[in-house]
Amino acid sequence: MFTPRAIGFVRSPYTDTKSIPKGLGAKHDAEGVLEILPEFELGLTDVEGFSHLFVIWTFDRSEGFELIGSPPFDERPHGVFSTRSPRRPNPIALTVVELLSREGRLLRVRGVDMLDGTPILDIKPYMSSIPAEKIRRGWLAEAEARTHK
Ligand SMILES: C[S@@+](CC[C@H](N)C(=O)[O-])C[C@H]1O[C@@H](n2cnc3c(N)ncnc32)[C@H](O)[C@@H]1O
Repeated sequence: MFTPRAIGFVRSPYTDTKSIPKGLGAKHDAEGVLEILPEFELGLTDVEGFSHLFVIWTFDRSEGFELIGSPPFDERPHGVFSTRSPRRPNPIALTVVELLSREGRLLRVRGVDMLDGTPILDIKPYMSSIPAEKIRRGWLAEAEARTHK
């Protein structure tokens, strides 16, 4: 195993979890900045060629975990590994953002869903080779169908 360390921090408009859009169909179009620490800037070489990035970050303001829980928009309980709950055994999060521009070690992005000051663990270019028709969305699709009835 390894000891994770921040490669940078998120500058986000959100200072309070209540202000982050949640629920079925929630839109994440808030803009923010990924501020990478100077010692890691070289690692951003060529990143501007990608439209979208995976941002791996840590839920640094969440405590403990529960293996079964109900998301805020579905009263039915689900296992933590079939949700995006912040309360998980390893508090690691993954967000896909659109890269708007790069200025040195600052990446301006759209689609942040993390609090201001959140530590970033890693960044990778977004790629998906899975055709849309092969993707199943489990309980989430069922919850959406119930909501739209
Ligand atoms: C449902 S999680 C999804 C995060 C990420 N997109 C994922 O799928 O791993 C997003 C929520 O985490 C919470 N959150 C955001 N930043 C956080 C932080 N730094 N520490 C703890 N909780 C945070 C907020 O309540 C936000 O609405």
